[in-house]
Amino acid sequence: MTAVPVPVSRTGARVERLPLARFTTLGVGGEAEVWFVSTLEQLREAVEAPYRVLGGGSNLVVSDGGVPERVLRLTGQLAEADLTPDPELSTSDTVVTGWVGGGVPLPGLIRKLQKLGLSNLEGTVGIPAQVGGAVWMNAGTRYGEMFDGLHTLEIVTPGSVRHLTPDDLNWGYRQSDLPRGHVVSRVRLKLRHSTSEAVLAKMDFADLARKGQPKMKTPGCAFKNPGGVSAGKLIDEAGLKGARVGGAMIAPEHANFIVNLGGASSADVHALLGLIRERVGVPMELEYELWPGEA
Ligand code: FAD
Ligand code: EPU
Repeated sequence: MTAVPVPVSRTGARVERLPLARFTTLGVGGEAEVWFVSTLEQLREAVEAPYRVLGGGSNLVVSDGGVPERVLRLTGQLAEADLTPDPELSTSDTVVTGWVGGGVPLPGLIRKLQKLGLSNLEGTVGIPAQVGGAVWMNAGTRYGEMFDGLHTLEIVTPGSVRHLTPDDLNWGYRQSDLPRGHVVSRVRLKLRHSTSEAVLAKMDFADLARKGQPKMKTPGCAFKNPGGVSAGKLIDEAGLKGARVGGAMIAPEHANFIVNLGGASSADVHALLGLIRERVGVPMELEYELWPGEA
């Protein structure tokens, strides 16, 4: 097979053709040109041609054929967290941190904040996202969401770097209102003083809700809860737990999770999503993102 040539970045970003399955929690996805961008300068170069941004890959079903656009992965400086309180922005009640990169893994960040006794984001415990991906879809649980702890967002688009505050956006349940292609390069967090023990207790409590979730490879919940009703309950009531297409299965533990039994293809997952839509009588919005899009 002839190797597909990859461009050389003028700002020094590493560029490689790689299977995206390696970067997704479902473990599915064909090849793309991956740009590992570690500085703002590299990010600004990377967005000069059509692109998609990859976070922790924990909400993605990527086609077996991959995607034609560049796929940006935030690393280096864009995956570092400066949690030092900013003296000009912090008050006696509120800590506003330095910049936290969009590529920072959320679970490690939450553990660090817990150790520092800083509260506001502990409700997002157990979400295997990166900060940018968690902001992009306002990831959360019923105990809290990403926008609970945001002060400023730095957004990169072709030709611009802008700073926004949560008040600039019409964010809500599992949505930030940020248009596709707006890269969350860094954020400042807004936190409250608490104690490490109190934050840990809240994390443990929020984590209890995950007991019934499957442990296999998955991109999390497939559908958003329609009107506050659990989509998992609706799929379960439609008798679909354990339904299988190829290597993909609707989890017996929780019906809103599709798991990869090993060797699942994106077509297997799409077929199960179609089956759910056909059998559940209530319109449900997909929570996953399908790359390159709906089949
Ligand atoms: P990706 O999956 O990599 O990408 C998702 C979208 O975010 C894409 O559009 C991508 O382009 C965009 N994106 C990623 N990074 C950036 C960036 N820097 N700037 C702009 N856009 C970006 N979600 C919940 O809300 N609550 C839960 O309780 C929850 N539990 C989960 C449990 C498991 C086991 C798994 C696998 C997933 C779970 N999820 C949950 C789903 C998932 O973790 C969230 O949707 C998360 O926000 C995805 O973030 P990510 O960084 O992995 O983004
Ligand atoms: N239920 C069933 N059958 C199922 C699944 C759930 O009957 O197969 C019932 C449960 O018994 C419970 C109710 O539905 O009575 C709610 O279930 P659960 O507590 O699991 O919550 P959920 O609404 O299904 C939501 C989020 C999860 C988040 C948990 C915990 C959505 C789409 N899902 O699940 O988020 O982790 O609450 O806070 O909002 C995600 O978004 O990817 C995700 C995993």
